[in-house]
Amino acid sequence: MERDPYPFYRTLREGFPLVRDELLGAWLLSRYADVRAALGDTRLGSVDTGLSPAYRGLLEPALRAAAERTAHVLARRIGGRREVDLVAEFSGWLPAAAAAAALGLPWEDAARVHEWCRTGPVPPGGSHPELEGLLRPHVARRRAHPGADLLSALCGARVAGQALSDEAVTGLAGTLLTGGGEATALALASFLANLLDHPAQLDLVRARPGLIPGAWAESLRRDPPAPVVLRRATVPITLGGTTLPAGAAVACLVGSAGRDPFRYADPDRYDIFRPDPAHLAFGAGRRFCLAATLAGLAAECGLRALLDAMPGLRWAPGFRSAPSGLMARAPRALLVRPSQGPF
Ligand code: HEM
Repeated sequence: MERDPYPFYRTLREGFPLVRDELLGAWLLSRYADVRAALGDTRLGSVDTGLSPAYRGLLEPALRAAAERTAHVLARRIGGRREVDLVAEFSGWLPAAAAAAALGLPWEDAARVHEWCRTGPVPPGGSHPELEGLLRPHVARRRAHPGADLLSALCGARVAGQALSDEAVTGLAGTLLTGGGEATALALASFLANLLDHPAQLDLVRARPGLIPGAWAESLRRDPPAPVVLRRATVPITLGGTTLPAGAAVACLVGSAGRDPFRYADPDRYDIFRPDPAHLAFGAGRRFCLAATLAGLAAECGLRALLDAMPGLRWAPGFRSAPSGLMARAPRALLVRPSQGPF
C-alpha cells in the first residue's frame, strides 16, 4: 500500500465511493466529484494554520527573490558532480533554505528545521516547541534592531491597524519554514521524477520555460504530496445517501481523485499538455491552500536553476525512482547525472 495505493484507490472508486476505514478512523471519499465537493463543503472543518491572506503581499516578493537565489546556490554546488541525489542535496532543502534566507535566518537554522521535518510531523502554525524556541530570540532581536529581512518586515507589519504579536510572527515564520509540513519539498521531488521519467517532456520544458507551470500542475494532479486531506464534520452531514454524525472524520483521497478516469483521460499518464489539469492537490473552495503560489514559485525557481546548472540532466544509469508514503508521498531518492559527458 505504501508503495502503490492506486489499485486500492481504484477499488474504492469503482465499488465503495464512501466507506468507513477503521484503521484510519475516518470515512473515505475517493471519486473526483465527491472529493471536490467535500473540500469545498463548509460543514467539514479543518485545522487552522495561522497564515492569513493579509500577509501575502508581504511574503511573495521576499520569497521569490530568496527562492531564486537559494535555488541557484544549491544547484551550482552540485552541478559539476558525476552523480547526485537530488532529494538529499536539492529538493529536500530548497523550501526551508529559501524561507530561512528570506526571513534572514542563518543556514544552520534551516538545517535544524529540515531535520525536525524529516524526523517527525511538524504541526502547521508553528506550534512546535523547538521551532518556537529557535524563532523567539530572532524575533526579539528584530524588534530591537529591525533589518531588511522578512522577519523584520513581519515584526513591523500592521494588519487592520494592529501590530502582530510575537506569537503571530513566530507562527507565521514557523509555517513558512516548515513549508506546510514539507509538502513543497515532496511535491518538488515528484515533479522532478515525472520530468526525468519523460525526457522528451523535460527537453521541451528546458526549451520553453513557459511550459513549467502546466508541467507542475500536471505533476500535482498525478502525484500530490499530501494525498489524504482530513476533515471533520462540524454538524451531521449526508454524503452519497449516508448520514455521518457530527465529529465524524472524512478523508478526502486527493490522490485517488487525481487518477479518476471519469475526470481525466488516461489518468496514470504524465502529460504536460493535458488540456485541463485542474487538480485538488491544494484543496478547493474556502480552505484552498494559501501558499499555492509560493509553492509554485519554489518549484519554478528550483527547476530553472537545475536546468541551468545541469545541461544534460538525466537519471543515473539503472536508477528508477520509487514514490512511497500514504499521507506524505514522494520518491525518497532521485539519483541523476547532471551532464552526460564522458567521465
Ligand atoms: C506543494 C505544496 C503544498 C501542497 C500540496 C499543499 C496542500 C494544501 C491543502 C490540500 C490544503 C487544504 C487543506 C484542507 O482543505 O483542509 C492546504 C491549506 C493550507 N496550506 Fe498548503 N500546501 C502546500 C504548500 C504550503 C506551504 C508552503 C504553506 C505555507 C508556507 C502552506 C500553507 C497552507 C495554509 C495556511 C493552508 C490553510 C488555508 C486555510 O485554512 O484557509 N501550504 N494546503
